Amino acid sequence: MVKRIAVLTSGGDAPGMNAAIRAVVRAGLAQGWEIVGIRRGYAGLLSEDFRPLGARDVGGIIQLGGTILGSARCPEFKTPEGVRRAAQILGKHGIDALVVIGGNGSQQGAYALSREGVPVVGVASTIDNDLVGSDITIGVDTALNVALEAIDRLKTTASSHNRAFLVEVMGRDCGYLALMAGIAGGAEAVVIPEVPVSPEAVAEAIREAYERGKPHAIVVVAEGAQYNAQRLAEYFQREQLGYELRVTVLGHVQRGGAPGAFDRLLGTLLGAGAVEALARGEDGVLVGQIKGEVVTTPLAEVAGRRKPLDPKLFELARVLAQ
Ligand code: ADP
Ligand code: F6P
Repeated sequence: MVKRIAVLTSGGDAPGMNAAIRAVVRAGLAQGWEIVGIRRGYAGLLSEDFRPLGARDVGGIIQLGGTILGSARCPEFKTPEGVRRAAQILGKHGIDALVVIGGNGSQQGAYALSREGVPVVGVASTIDNDLVGSDITIGVDTALNVALEAIDRLKTTASSHNRAFLVEVMGRDCGYLALMAGIAGGAEAVVIPEVPVSPEAVAEAIREAYERGKPHAIVVVAEGAQYNAQRLAEYFQREQLGYELRVTVLGHVQRGGAPGAFDRLLGTLLGAGAVEALARGEDGVLVGQIKGEVVTTPLAEVAGRRKPLDPKLFELARVLAQ
């Protein structure tokens, strides 16, 4: 019987994590459980940085970006000894179950803990959208909107000067953010890790865009692509494209700031979904959203895998760039 659960946020923060924390706390309290917040992800777990969370502690946070619990990357937790020690600490504090709000690495950690016998439920949260078990993860929509605002702005200045722009977006090894920003932002080309391209091919795409009468060329580049924005720019300087090129790396701007409506709602639904899963007696699962439904997927099927991109979308980006 679950009576006392802990919640932590881990890995890269994502707008909407606070909505998920709030939902875990309030839905858990409604079950009659005690809720413990663990600060700074697995690092805080190993240093026993725990504090009780009541309904008022999560007031006024649904609209805030980042995570009130803090987040961290914790190399020690990647070791079998680290995971074992974490399981012991949770036992010592009388924690019956743990909710891990985080991305791919964090859910691998959650799976490792569940294999140590700890009841764990993951909540799919990363701007990268690379998690198996959720069509979309917490933070993606807000990050995408930030990228789109930047692309819209860059287009106007690019057109005034007939310039080409390389706009680099985050996503680690996954091209989802770049591809979707490229489609929704009307980019002339998209460069993603899943579809390797040569700098020559990118230069050709830019040249062709001008030849078709475009006043600018916007290339959205995923940070994880073999040729990221900086490497492409170096190549282009060497090869002298014949038109002006500028580079904008969006970086952490995409992760910061207030969550939009979609991520507040998704965070809320998935956080509450984690509590419902535990109340049903489920653990060792990731809570995500598939075809609009809140669903659970065994962490064994999630950990160490990456959701593939739909190749049709890449082709669509190319067709619509004419
Ligand atoms: P994200 O969850 O955003 O993908 P990371 O990949 O940095 O972020 O993972 C966050 C943390 O999860 C890591 O710092 C580490 O503590 C833990 N973690 C990652 N991979 C593993 C693993 N294979 N086993 C155990 N813990 C892991
Ligand atoms: O996983 C989220 C993410 O923002 C990735 O897109 C990016 O590669 C990475 O985290 C950046 O990590 P850090 O915040 O440690 O620089």
